Amino acid sequence: MIRFENVTKIYGNKKALDRVNLEINHGEFISLVGQSGAGKSTLLKLIFGEEKLDGGRILIDDVDIATISEGDIPFLRRKIGVVFQDMRLLQRKTAFENVAFAMEVAGYMREKIEKDVPRILEIVGILDQMHSFPHEMSGGEKQRVAIARALAHKPILLLADEPTGNLDEINGYEILDLLQKINNLGTTVILATHARDLVNKIRKRVVTMEKGKIVLEQEKGRYQLVPDSI
Ligand SMILES: Nc1ncnc2c1ncn2[C@@H]1O[C@H](COP(=O)(O)OP(=O)(O)O)[C@@H](O)[C@H]1O
Ligand SMILES: [Mg+2]
Repeated sequence: MIRFENVTKIYGNKKALDRVNLEINHGEFISLVGQSGAGKSTLLKLIFGEEKLDGGRILIDDVDIATISEGDIPFLRRKIGVVFQDMRLLQRKTAFENVAFAMEVAGYMREKIEKDVPRILEIVGILDQMHSFPHEMSGGEKQRVAIARALAHKPILLLADEPTGNLDEINGYEILDLLQKINNLGTTVILATHARDLVNKIRKRVVTMEKGKIVLEQEKGRYQLVPDSI
């Protein structure tokens, strides 16, 4: 589904990604781990088309994303849902409206939106908070809204960049369970996190990054770091 071939990304004179090779298959759940600054977010941004690469190439379903014109970037993004640590919800809209708005932007009709939003909110477990505003919800609940919004346009790939970063441990695990449920429903998931305990619990493919390079790949591994490095 996604293939990185010798991908390099440079900021100033610093290599945020240094000749990264990575292949991700349809339906996979991948955890991308490593310390802050390792290059996790940069890798996700390249997939999403938010940043351009400086070397190598990225293929998504055999299409080199460098050959996609500016005008076609929205079509790429339509295949992808993104969730961030800081959630980025619209504060003056309810949970329902946040998800509905994303569907409107993606061009869905009102009738479809009215029908789908409650279904999506049910999947993420906050149907009963449908009419709550972000300030009325806990961090974990808000992140569920953000995930619902990311799923609104039915992406085939969900990118989650430190989605548990602002949550306590219990809520973090619950969000992780939700991401696994979404993966089980057929969406490919890439989770970027520096949270070692979280990833140890998943026991799915783990890709460890350090200083812009992939230093370890484990099929059902445990997150490893050199002792004392965090
Ligand atoms: N917009 C930017 N401008 C300059 N340097 C950046 C920018 N984004 C990231 N970097 C640098 O690239 C490296 C990788 O960053 P990032 O991908 O955010 O790491 P991670 O998500 O693993 O913490 C870091 O050294 C960071 O400082
Ligand atoms: Mg990051």
